[in-house]
Amino acid sequence: MTHAPTQTCAETSPSCPDQERPCGGCPFARKVDDLVLANDALTELNRQLQLAQAKLVQSEKLASIGQLAAGVAHEINNPVGYVFSNFGSLEKYLGDLFRMLAAYEAAEAQLADTPAAASLAQLREEIDLDFLKEDVPTLMDESREGIRRVHKIVQDLKDFSRVDNRQEWEWTDLHKGIDSTLNIVNNEIKYRADVVREYGTLPDVQCLSSEINQVFMNLLVNAAHAIDKERGTIHVRTGAEDGQVWVEIEDDGCGIPAEHLGRVFDPFFTTKPVGKGTGLGLSLSYGIVQKHGGRLDVESAPGKGTRFRVTIPVAQAEASLA
Ligand SMILES: Nc1ncnc2c1ncn2[C@@H]1O[C@H](COP(=O)(O)OP(=O)(O)O)[C@@H](O)[C@H]1O
Ligand SMILES: [Mg+2]
Repeated sequence: MTHAPTQTCAETSPSCPDQERPCGGCPFARKVDDLVLANDALTELNRQLQLAQAKLVQSEKLASIGQLAAGVAHEINNPVGYVFSNFGSLEKYLGDLFRMLAAYEAAEAQLADTPAAASLAQLREEIDLDFLKEDVPTLMDESREGIRRVHKIVQDLKDFSRVDNRQEWEWTDLHKGIDSTLNIVNNEIKYRADVVREYGTLPDVQCLSSEINQVFMNLLVNAAHAIDKERGTIHVRTGAEDGQVWVEIEDDGCGIPAEHLGRVFDPFFTTKPVGKGTGLGLSLSYGIVQKHGGRLDVESAPGKGTRFRVTIPVAQAEASLA
């Protein structure tokens, strides 16, 4: 495309399609420049929209997982409840049966040398009555412990997701939240690291509890993923000062190289293989902590470990509770 220079201008536009014959600031070139600028702005806006959308999708996903978890927890709670209460009755009945059995055994002596005594002795051997008497209480204890654990996990899941009521600012015991979260991610942690809790004294904190739990979960799972030796340690420390509370999660894992440190909160930044990392955990956590008027800080020594610290105010300003 060519165009005649209609006016002269001191500048030469790099966007002029006719570079052979620079036309300076002709109206056409100016329009092209404007369009290029507008296009750049739109591209940037589009990128931001995509990020916002990805965040939304992720939080939608988390919300539906939470909803699912709460639903499942509710469904499991009921049968677990009656199995647990039946256990009490069963234990009592078994105690009675054992007492009855002892009475029969005492009476058995009077049947000596009768065919009934012989068949009783045979049956006793067949079912290995002595072992059975020993094993039944052990099985009962183990089963009760199993049911108690299921009950606890279900309770923790309900606490964790709290989707039964709309997400609201509420005064929360953060230690309870951390403990529930630890219980839920236990599977991710227990084969890799020991968790050492060094809790200070915390006041109740005004927060969106399930979102804050989400932050703890992301930090704990990241800490567990970072352990690159046989077995590591994750310290969870808490404290309060000057109207703020802090929670620190420190691991002795691989650490974060200096060149990555500034990028870990970026959406989609991950060093994990596809399927294991989305790169959204820290960026979401950052957003949640910010929403609480707090800070999320990181310190890391490559090869030695990493410490994340969440600091949030005890109480929220009236305006941010809307
Ligand atoms: N405790 C940690 N130790 C070492 N690296 C970490 C730790 N936490 C986060 N990172 C780094 O930050 C990246 C981003 O973390 P995150 O946003 O949670 O996404 P993801 O865990 O899905 O990769 C991780 O891929 C990892 O490289
Ligand atoms: Mg993560």
